Amino acid sequence: MKKDITCRDDIALMVSVFYKKIANDTVLGAVFNGEKKIDWDKHIPAMCDFWENALFQSGNYKGNPMNLHQHLHKVMPLNEVHFRQWNILFIETIDELFSGHYALLAKQRALNISQIIQQQLFAGKQTR
Ligand code: HEM
Repeated sequence: MKKDITCRDDIALMVSVFYKKIANDTVLGAVFNGEKKIDWDKHIPAMCDFWENALFQSGNYKGNPMNLHQHLHKVMPLNEVHFRQWNILFIETIDELFSGHYALLAKQRALNISQIIQQQLFAGKQTR
């Protein structure tokens, strides 16, 4: 029986496993390691803060993911295929490592935010 996500160490594991998959992925690797090369040393701790806040209301995440993705989309256009792959890898990561209330909540939050970002980026536009 896998354990649930209960603390920052669990989140740090989830984030590192997830972004290793992303970096090696044929669809998403190019976005993260492409032209606008992402600074992993900043992104990983920021994502830990984000998830700690999203799951446990730690209050330590102050960023604006909506603006960041809108900006990213201008530099490196994203489409539904990118988001579908992001969702698949996220769910896969959680299911490999954890199970329980917070594991489920993380998957629900991720899919929900994914949907909201896509609505904002692709509103009224043909994406494929
Ligand atoms: C195709 C899908 C996605 C791609 C390619 C993508 C890519 C990126 C990149 C490159 C950044 C860094 C932006 C920067 O620092 O300039 C970023 C930030 C972020 N992403 Fe995504 N993202 C995707 C989907 C999502 C989804 C579904 C979530 C939902 C949890 C998410 C959560 C975040 C957050 C919270 C940040 C901000 C971290 C911070 O404050 O520095 N992303 N994303």
